Amino acid sequence: MNPQINLTQPFVPTSQTPCHNSGWKAQFACPQGRLGWVVGHVMAIKNAPMIRFGVEMLDVQPEDQVLEIGFGHGRGIQLLAQYAKRGFVAGIDISDVMVRQAARRNHEKIRSGYIELSQASVSAIPYEYARFNKVLAVNNYQFWPNAEPNLVEIQRVLDDNGLLVLCLRLKAPQTMLQMVPGYSMDEVEEIAGLVRWVGFRDVQIVRRRAGDETLCILAKR
Ligand SMILES: C[S@@+](CC[C@H](N)C(=O)[O-])C[C@H]1O[C@@H](n2cnc3c(N)ncnc32)[C@H](O)[C@@H]1O
Repeated sequence: MNPQINLTQPFVPTSQTPCHNSGWKAQFACPQGRLGWVVGHVMAIKNAPMIRFGVEMLDVQPEDQVLEIGFGHGRGIQLLAQYAKRGFVAGIDISDVMVRQAARRNHEKIRSGYIELSQASVSAIPYEYARFNKVLAVNNYQFWPNAEPNLVEIQRVLDDNGLLVLCLRLKAPQTMLQMVPGYSMDEVEEIAGLVRWVGFRDVQIVRRRAGDETLCILAKR
């Protein structure tokens, strides 16, 4: 899997779709088909405050080389590119529907080479060692196939002192009312522990109400 968006040719997704689950909840894990397209637009609105929070925590500078994992609809990519004016923004997502939607949203900067989007998984990031100095993942850690090796894979593409920002939704007290499930504070502490365990340092958790209660884990390579 790793077809990249090339706006001069039709996007050809991988023949084997990496979306395995079925049911409407799976549309958040890997949006597919027409419903997936609609879900993408809904997430772009619903998750906008959380994405802004993540981007703010990443503190993007004009020359930064940034990767977003699980970009979905591509609003995060759009925002990152506004800050990394002279830098480079790459994104990976396993859903071909989301790659198309995000490409539409960001077509001008893809054309000029500032943004590059690929259909790929966090388990095999299609970039070389130390390619980025910042990595963002909002609202998709819960879908990663295997968190520990996936975090090691992120470390591989981050340069020394590079920053990872991983944002998660906190479980609402009245869970029945929450459409998208969240994490408990203990689970977030555990994830932060895993981030530390794989070798990241200066691990911090920042909490804010960003639409929903949100926690971003910040960690240095
Ligand atoms: C809930 S959506 C979040 C989209 C966006 N980040 C947001 O906050 O609105 C999760 C996204 O992660 C993507 N995703 C799921 N598993 C992935 C994986 N293993 N590697 C990369 N992206 C993945 C899905 O295709 C989907 O676009």
